[in-house]
Amino acid sequence: RLFLYFCHPQTRCSQQLHSDMDRGDGSIKYILSGEGAGTTFTIDDGTGDIHAIQRLDREVKAQYLLRAQARNRLTDQPLEPESQFVVKIQDINDNEPKFPDGPYHASVPEMSHIGTSVIQLTATDADDPTYGSSARVVYSILEGQPYFSVDAKTGVVRVSLADMDRETRENYTVVIQAKDMGGQLGGLAGTTSVNIRLGDVNDNPPTFDQRLYQMSIPEAAPVGSVVGRIWAKDRDVGVNAEMEYSIIDGDGRDTFDISTDPTNLFGIITVKRPLNFESKPSYTLKVEGANTHLDPAFRHRVPFKDMTIVHVSVEDVDEPPLFDAPAYYVELAEDAEIGTVVRTVTARDPDAANNTVRYSIEKSSDPDKFFYLEITSGSLMTVRSLDREEVGWHNITILAMEMNNPTQISSASVAVRVLDVNDNPPSLTHYLEAYVCESAKAGQLIQTVTAVDPDQPLGGQHFSYRLAPEAANNPNFTLRDNQDNTAWILTRRGGWSQQDQTVFYLPVVISDGEQPVQTSTSTLTVRVCSCDREGNVMSCDAEAHSLPASLSRGALIAILACIFVLLGESR
Ligand SMILES: *[C@@H]1O[C@H](CO)[C@@H](O)[C@H](O)[C@H]1NC(C)=O
Ligand SMILES: *[C@@H]1O[C@H](CO)[C@@H](O)[C@H](O)[C@H]1NC(C)=O
Repeated sequence: RLFLYFCHPQTRCSQQLHSDMDRGDGSIKYILSGEGAGTTFTIDDGTGDIHAIQRLDREVKAQYLLRAQARNRLTDQPLEPESQFVVKIQDINDNEPKFPDGPYHASVPEMSHIGTSVIQLTATDADDPTYGSSARVVYSILEGQPYFSVDAKTGVVRVSLADMDRETRENYTVVIQAKDMGGQLGGLAGTTSVNIRLGDVNDNPPTFDQRLYQMSIPEAAPVGSVVGRIWAKDRDVGVNAEMEYSIIDGDGRDTFDISTDPTNLFGIITVKRPLNFESKPSYTLKVEGANTHLDPAFRHRVPFKDMTIVHVSVEDVDEPPLFDAPAYYVELAEDAEIGTVVRTVTARDPDAANNTVRYSIEKSSDPDKFFYLEITSGSLMTVRSLDREEVGWHNITILAMEMNNPTQISSASVAVRVLDVNDNPPSLTHYLEAYVCESAKAGQLIQTVTAVDPDQPLGGQHFSYRLAPEAANNPNFTLRDNQDNTAWILTRRGGWSQQDQTVFYLPVVISDGEQPVQTSTSTLTVRVCSCDREGNVMSCDAEAHSLPASLSRGALIAILACIFVLLGESR
């Protein structure tokens, strides 16, 4: 049998392999093989002493599997079967605890309660945890008290001071030590640092940087213009410093607006309604700024809002004169006498200076100079007679300028509508001619007559027709007024013949229905024509130079035929 005695790994000890068959005469040879044989361990083949020939490190290799055998030195015959044995390397505390993840960064909200966990640190020790205390680590704090503490066993870092305030101090460096051997004297130690940042909570109220803001804005500033900026400062940061502003009171509530700028910090005051220095030169606004993210934990001790006063002065701007109306509409009869005052306009300088105003007409708006605007009084009058039938509207532009500053000028439009006066007589529709067939009998309608009148009475035209007095008892034709602005011309006899008479002239008196009544006499030409059996005209007086409006196509052909005949004869 083989026996083995272990040695302490740190010493260059000699341990012995010994067979009970060894009689000490040197006839036995010990052989060592397996892991580390010849490199880490050697054996004295005569004595069986085993030496470690290399430094052993449990943390590199904790055990070796070796085989040993005793043989006859002469015959090299094995004296007994090979036996296996394990060399276990015994641990010593040669490794200090280490923080593989250090240095650490952590954060904890300010104002956290004592005992709030910040971070857990873990140190590792390479020594054998199953043997002795070489790997038993205890944590302690070297730096960072009294703000933080560390749990000796678990390595959890905790808050150890109440009401730590980020606004007072934000960053802390904590140094933690891990010591093995259960923290006992002689243990090995390793340290790490933890950078702890206090996170913000909303524990500070906003405060306006001014109790009273003075701002000013020109009265001409358009709606939307920025008047100024206010700021309720907050010692907190991020969302805890974000603000929302509102105008809660003051006589400028309806005239100005407030909004928060894109950073959510500043209040921007803008113009909401047009300003007018002359009617109100200053405004007061009571503005409130409030945090948008409230922390319920501090609701009872932090007022999350503040108030300030903003005083806005409106600056006077030299403005052009202002007409008493932006546009004027006037109606004027066309027979108005020259020099009639159409309308008197007024423009006033709205500025405090109240400069004198001068009036004029914009030339291109009255190219034919129908009107004149009295330069000091603003009286618009006619200087030419008007004619509705020629120009029905005069749309002119009038100007008002400050006498001592011609750049301050403004304009207004005046629409003059010319009203109708019955100043035109009616007359027969142009080119109206009539014809009578030779075959026509008494009482036959030969023409319907209509009239035209350039006037435009509001109630429409009402023409009346009659034959002129000299034709009143005409034995040849009669006129019948249809009372609908038309009249009929009828024959009074039969037996018409071109041989007797080719053309008759019939004076017709036409009156309109307006006051003063306008009357005219138009002469209707009636030609005698030969007609076919349907009453279509075949031929009329050859000297007719204008064609009756009501000629049929047949009549036209007949007339053309006559012309050819005439041409043929004259050749
Ligand atoms: C003049 O103004 C009136 C009213 O604004 C309008 O109806 C009319 O068409 C205008 N006439 C001309 C010629 O511009
Ligand atoms: C009526 O016709 C006849 C015959 O053609 C003529 O002599 C007479 O002058 C006419 N009368 C009038 C008033 O035209």
